Formats: sequence, structure tokens, C-alpha cells
Amino acid sequence: MPTLDEFVANVAKSGLVTRDDLERGRERLGSTSPEGAPLQLAKLLIGQNSLTTYQARKLLSGATKGFFLGGFKILRPLGEGGMGKVYLAEAEGDKRRVAIKVLPPKKAAEEDRAVQRFRREMDLSRRVNHPNIARTLDVGEAGGVYFMIMEYIPGQSLYELVKREGGGPLRVPDTAKFFLKVLDGLEAAHSIGLIHRDIKPSNIMVTPEGDARILDMGLAKAMNEASILTRPNVVVGTLDYASPEQLGDAARANERSDLYSVGCTLYFTLAGRPPFEGGDIVNKIYKQRMEDPEPLESVAKGVPSSFAAIVRKLMAKNPNDRYQSVAELRIDIARWTDPATVRAILGAQADAARAFRPPPPSLDDEDLRFLADDDLSPSLPSLRDLGDPTPEAPPVHKLPTVPRPVLVVEPSSRGVHPPAQVGGPDEDNRWLIQFSIIAVVLGVVSILIISLIQAS
Ligand SMILES: Nc1ncnc2c1ncn2[C@@H]1O[C@H](COP(=O)(O)OP(=O)(O)O)[C@@H](O)[C@H]1O
Ligand SMILES: [Mg+2]
Repeated sequence: MPTLDEFVANVAKSGLVTRDDLERGRERLGSTSPEGAPLQLAKLLIGQNSLTTYQARKLLSGATKGFFLGGFKILRPLGEGGMGKVYLAEAEGDKRRVAIKVLPPKKAAEEDRAVQRFRREMDLSRRVNHPNIARTLDVGEAGGVYFMIMEYIPGQSLYELVKREGGGPLRVPDTAKFFLKVLDGLEAAHSIGLIHRDIKPSNIMVTPEGDARILDMGLAKAMNEASILTRPNVVVGTLDYASPEQLGDAARANERSDLYSVGCTLYFTLAGRPPFEGGDIVNKIYKQRMEDPEPLESVAKGVPSSFAAIVRKLMAKNPNDRYQSVAELRIDIARWTDPATVRAILGAQADAARAFRPPPPSLDDEDLRFLADDDLSPSLPSLRDLGDPTPEAPPVHKLPTVPRPVLVVEPSSRGVHPPAQVGGPDEDNRWLIQFSIIAVVLGVVSILIISLIQAS
């Protein structure tokens, strides 16, 4: 924790707070203990809207830079995905709020190509001015950092809605109503020949009013025309929603590939998990191309088999067996928006379906998002200390951790002890390494002794 003077110097240097506002905060500080003073001043500055809690935490950690990017002030992180971090930012001039996606640094040439491709796609995506599509506003570069400026959509992603604590899968009528809005946006894009290529729960925002906004329109194509598999830092979770034909050759993606991804996203929304859970990249690609998922109606209680059939048709391996257009799909989805209809169709199952409580959300190994600010040290004051009782923690995409097998010791012959789980492979490895070192040292010493004896 910095001293009060250091903190004041950091704040002044950052350019985030005007001299007057900083003075105002200091005057209100009054007499506090020297240790508590920086935190107290940070709270006051947050209280008078001079700083956001995110900025305050960064400043308390000693940062004085990284708060401005190409004419925008960074307010807080919104999330992190395979392609970089997304921040909420404010235009320095008119204070308009935008979302800024900072692209990971790559070779300059590749960046330039990506930006060119992106501009081309953006021109196309600008032509779809639709209320269910988040607009991409511009692409910029500042000090070698490339970033995209997008319309800021308040709310949470469909992924968060389902996976966050207190969330869970949606019921059929709500899902149907919500997806009709997604389909409206997607149809508008398709109508001008724009394929999304990366429809997935984290690319669909749910606004506080329950409206749908599709994110990252045109981005997948702009970032890499060759294959999503060669995209840098591709997150395995992305493969959960990619069509078999895209996994073979990304250039083959068309409207029906987006519909396959809609099918996987519907599956996730109703089951609380993607169709093919677990496994590594190879495994996932194999399953998307060769296997059928566990039937939705048996994974998610309360989903009538006739609705599950829509999802099954969307997820057909052969594009010719799927719905051929958004318009065709919309007709079938629209039948499910009325809860009374769902009850009538479910008949005897209706009570069970009504009683069905979606399972509590669980974070999977793959596509794991955890709530953390990884660039801030854990010793820093938490958002709670800074007076934000419900911190808006950003979702983060993390590559899956490789499951570690455990060594199970069988019960002794007398059967006194139950099977016990003992140390994992790390413990065994440590033992092995120690043993090897001792063996090598003993060997070297013996060779030395023998050669000494021979020499004398
Ligand atoms: N324009 C936006 N407005 C609001 N939140 C956004 C916006 N773009 C992205 N986000 C948030 O950031 C998260 C990460 O986005 P992204 O980097 O595209 O990763 P991915 O889509 O692979 O999960 C999204 O899931 C969403 O929660
Ligand atoms: Mg995205």
C-alpha cells in the first residue's frame, strides 16, 4: 500500500482526476491514520465520481499509466476472451460510453493484415444496422496497441446468465422468446451475406430489459480467414459451438454453419452446458464432426422432445439436413413462446416440468471463466473495501486445466482402511526426482573412487 503522498502523486500523474477534484477529496479526508489514509482518499474519490473502483485499485497498486487509449478513458474491464480483454471506456470528449477490445500484440505485419480485414468486414457489418446486433464502431491503434471500439451493451452475456451463481438454464418459453430476437439479428446479417461464424453464449448479450444483442459480428472473419483453429489463443470453449464443416475448413462457413452454432447455443441455454462437454481440442473436434450429443430432452428435464427435435435438426452434421434459413427456423421456435402451449404439449410431464429446478450452475473445466482481476495483486484492497458491495467482476476465459489423475490405494488385505486418495502425481514425481538424484550422485562418487584406486 502506498503512503498518502505517493497515492496522491500517482493520482495526479495518471491524469484521471482534475487538480480541483483531487484537492476536494483531500480536504474532505480530515484526520485519519496514516495507514488508512490512501484507502480512505480512494473511497472519497470514488464517492465523488472522480475515479471508478477499478481505477482506484490500479492506482493503489502503484499504476499510473494504461488508463487512456486513443482518446478513451478506461473505466473497468467487461470481460476477457480468446482474443483479448474488453473494457468499458468513455470518450474523452463527449463522454459517450463504448466497449474497447484490446487485441493481443502480434507481429506488426499480421496486425496490419488483421486490421485491414477487419475494416473490410466492418464496412459490411455497418450495413446491418439492426437493434439485435451490437455495432462495431471503429478500429484503432495507439502506441502499437491495436483495439476495436464497439457499442457498449449493458447487461450480461448469455453465458454469464446461465453459469453465474443464482443463474441456471432457462425454461423453454423464455428461451424461445429470447432466441426469436437473436434470430432477428442473425437474419438481418444473413440478408446482406454476412456470416457471423462465432455464434456462442458469450457472444450474445442479454440486456437488463431482456433484449438480445449479438456481439462480434464480422470479427471471426476479420481475425483469421483461414481457420478458427489457427486463430491465436483460440479458446477451446469456442469449439463447443463451431460447426463440423467450419472445423474442417473455415472458408466453408455459411448461413447454415451459423444455424448449427445456434443449435449448440440453444442446447447450452436449456441444459446449462454445451453439447459436448469436457475433453481436449482433438476430442472436441472429433465429437463435433462424428458424434451425436446426449439427447437434450434427457439432459434437461422439462424440455419436450418435440422442442429438442428442433435443436437436433439444427445440429445435424450435414448442412443439408439442418434448417436451411433463419426464416424456416423462426416458424418452429415461435410455436414455443407461450407457456400454456408448452404445458399442453407436455401433458402428463407438465407437473414434473413445472417442478423442475434447473441444476445449480457449475463451472466446467473447459470454457472456464473465473471471477478475478488477474493483473492486480491479491494483496490489494478488494472492491468490497472500496465500498462496492456487488463488484462487477469480469468473466475470464481460461484454457482448460489438464485433469490430474489421482492414485488410489486399495484397501489393505485386512480391510481395515477404506480406499484412500493419496498424493497426486506431483508427490510421486518429487519422490522419483529425489531417488534419481541420489542414484546419480552415488554413481558419480563410485566412479571417482574407482578411478582414484586405479590411478594409485
Ligand atoms: N460490446 C460489449 N458490451 C458489453 N460487454 C461486452 C462487449 N463485448 C464483450 N463484452 C463482454 O466481454 C466478454 C468477453 O468478450 P470477448 O473478448 O469477445 O470473448 P468471448 O466472446 O470469446 O468470450 C463477453 O462475454 C461479454 O461479457
Ligand atoms: Mg466475443
